[in-house]
Amino acid sequence: MTTQFESAVIADLERLVPMVESALLAPLFDFEAPILQEAARYSLEAGGKRVRPVLCLLAAESADKSAETALSCAIALEYIHTYSLIHDDLPAMDDDDLRRGKPTNHKVFGEGQAILAGDGFLTEAFGILAGAAKLTSEQKVQAIQTLSEAAGWRGMVGGQSLDLEGENLVKEGKPYDYARLQLIHRLKTGALLRASLELGAIAAGADGGIRSALREAGAALGLAFQIRDDILDATSDSETMGKRVGKDEGKNKITYPKLLGLDGAAKALEDTTERAVGLLAPLPNPSSLIAWARFLSVRAN
Ligand code: IPE
Ligand code: IPE
Ligand code: MG
Ligand code: MG
Ligand code: MG
Repeated sequence: MTTQFESAVIADLERLVPMVESALLAPLFDFEAPILQEAARYSLEAGGKRVRPVLCLLAAESADKSAETALSCAIALEYIHTYSLIHDDLPAMDDDDLRRGKPTNHKVFGEGQAILAGDGFLTEAFGILAGAAKLTSEQKVQAIQTLSEAAGWRGMVGGQSLDLEGENLVKEGKPYDYARLQLIHRLKTGALLRASLELGAIAAGADGGIRSALREAGAALGLAFQIRDDILDATSDSETMGKRVGKDEGKNKITYPKLLGLDGAAKALEDTTERAVGLLAPLPNPSSLIAWARFLSVRAN
């Protein structure tokens, strides 16, 4: 049976994903490096769920502006995310061979081209924000600062570094506590989801109260997203996920299920999701984002 929030999510996907898909591919046709072009297109067309861009568009709508206003922000977010996945899968990092149901980028194009495809997405994301026709100069600067904070040292890249360092701590039998695990998840995944909602607020020209509510709700939703990812890595299968599962255990990753058990992880996921819902509730138009928060906490892939 389809629950009410699942129907809302399906309706949002049908409405917003086509807009995102065509805008994602458009910048790939105006440069002349055919292998890079193919490698970038390969990862974009592999069928990601587009959670970050859709949340960004919904955040703009939750602040009473059209989704189109935030489209450049949505594309920049998916570019950063796609780059983070290409690099996360490299042999020097998680060493994975399956992503979005297809061989990973480096398995098809080689490590050098895969690194460059990731570098291209990272760099172009900021160019897209700088050139966003629907944003004022002030909005562009704020969007660039917010995305840079979320993607760089204080965000995803910092979290990925701590994640790698954590593998070594486990190998050496060193202690590993919950605070450290939570920090890694907040940074490596939470920060970009936080930025997804905050960029929607920026594009909508939302006031400070709405912007900070969306930022905090995004942070909670992002932490919940990675807790669910950990649970699915321990309980799902590769066909459903489009990527290998059971790999966290194999790579000595400390995850929510590993530290808290599956029941403890499920409880943390529920609490974190409820925190996100509580932060969203006072917004002018929160029903879609609330449905998404609930859906993401039970998502199957
Ligand atoms: C996977 O993100 C990486 C994590 C941050 C857990 P998604 O689950 O959003 O991956 P795609 O974009 O759908 O492939
Ligand atoms: C991913 O964490 C976080 C990123 C910044 C890419 P994971 O390493 O758990 O993501 P998956 O499971 O490979 O998608
Ligand atoms: Mg990883
Ligand atoms: Mg990984
Ligand atoms: Mg994972």
